[in-house]
Amino acid sequence: SSIRVPAIGTLDTKLVAVGEAPGEDEEYNKEPFWPNARAGEKFTNCLGRNGVMREDIFITNLCKYRPPQNHFDTLLNSQQLLDGLQELQQDLLKIKPNVILALGNWPMYFLTGKHGYEHGKPKPGSGITNHRASILPCIFKGLENTKVIPTYHPAHVAREAKLYPIFDMDIRRAIDDSKFPEFNLEPLTTVINPTPDEIERAAYELLRAPLYSFDI
Ligand code: URA
Repeated sequence: SSIRVPAIGTLDTKLVAVGEAPGEDEEYNKEPFWPNARAGEKFTNCLGRNGVMREDIFITNLCKYRPPQNHFDTLLNSQQLLDGLQELQQDLLKIKPNVILALGNWPMYFLTGKHGYEHGKPKPGSGITNHRASILPCIFKGLENTKVIPTYHPAHVAREAKLYPIFDMDIRRAIDDSKFPEFNLEPLTTVINPTPDEIERAAYELLRAPLYSFDI
């Protein structure tokens, strides 16, 4: 499409939300994540539940133009997408947010380089389930110290209601983390071939812990 949908919101914010590209309603209303369309409503509602009005933040898309058939893939390597990425970088450098909320697979890919795999091969535009809610560094030039938090695309959440509590949790994390610029990541310790003494100490600590979290 040749109809431009500009970013909306305030430059005076610590939280920027980035979607893929406008849909039909966004194009008609010239507003990203138009609050009366399905995706925009999910997103706006979730911000509201967590005490943030959409006017308080900056909302934008990787590309400012609606892709043919709403398929983002058709924009890959297009001038419209390249221009959009450059504009996004300039906006982010001006705003200096503490958190960039990447809404969906493609914003996650362009902002962090993260992606999933298919048949063992890298597949850009996938992998959100494995990376959502991670606090990742932005890979845009000049923004390497800015946190990116990816979550599901609101349109995906609108189609799959069971994802809403997870989406809500991720949005809350992004809002909470936007209060400060630090990554504050927990230091990780890896123990290989633990001695009996180390095992005993670990067991003791685990038995005293009020809460466990583990990967299988
Ligand atoms: N989907 C997007 O990625 N962006 C919008 O603005 C609307 C729907």
